[in-house]
Amino acid sequence: MIKDKIADYWNWRSTSYHQEYMSRITDEIELWEQILTPILPEGKHLNVIEVGTGPGILALALAKMGHNVTGIDLSPEMIKKAQNNAEKIGINASFREGDAENLDLAAGSADLIVSKYLMWTLPHPDIFLDGANRILAPGGRIIAVDGVWYTDTQEQAPAEKPYSAFFDECYEEVRPNLPLGKDNTPDKVVSLIADHGFSDSTWRYLDDYQSFLKTFDTNETTVTPYLVSAKKSC
Ligand SMILES: C[S@@+](CC[C@H](N)C(=O)[O-])C[C@H]1O[C@@H](n2cnc3c(N)ncnc32)[C@H](O)[C@@H]1O
Repeated sequence: MIKDKIADYWNWRSTSYHQEYMSRITDEIELWEQILTPILPEGKHLNVIEVGTGPGILALALAKMGHNVTGIDLSPEMIKKAQNNAEKIGINASFREGDAENLDLAAGSADLIVSKYLMWTLPHPDIFLDGANRILAPGGRIIAVDGVWYTDTQEQAPAEKPYSAFFDECYEEVRPNLPLGKDNTPDKVVSLIADHGFSDSTWRYLDDYQSFLKTFDTNETTVTPYLVSAKKSC
């Protein structure tokens, strides 16, 4: 039931989300290629899952880099947007519905799991991380991009402000207890990831992404996103 409400929100939000990306999608995909290339092994074709793919930006960047990519999202409308984007840009990636907290993929079937702006929304990020660990092959990697959208003093994420009434309605039951819903600092995410069987964590602020967003004058630019990367422990 709660998952239906969460999906309702993101289904509704998918149109405005899509519009936000439309003007910058090709440049954004290029930027993510630049951000991700130094983290990934050279010359390998990886099996990649993007969880909470939304309009599919990271999935499309990774597919353009030559990886075999599937993007998963709870929201069927987001999946449609991602499929349309793939078609429009001419990049080959698969997209389908799925739940981050119930990943229906075979153990050891992925080399890389990525998520962007997903973990703060999850009622059970620990279940997502356990599932991610299970489906990663030995030595596989997780990359999580997020930002501190809400703090104890800031109740509304700038990017979500225009949409907050419906967000509050759909997330009413879970929002007070979202483990990463507030103050989800990089240290907090690194520590949670380490508790779920990952090691060799690194993280950095994505100043480059923030500068890029500023050139498009988006309302996301007051928060500096960060990227956490870690390996499945052997
Ligand atoms: C803030 S949006 C980010 C979308 C995309 N990653 C991006 O950065 O453009 C969060 C996304 O997570 C998805 N999501 C939320 N809960 C999910 C879950 N349990 N399983 C899979 N996707 C989920 C939403 O549908 C939405 O597309």
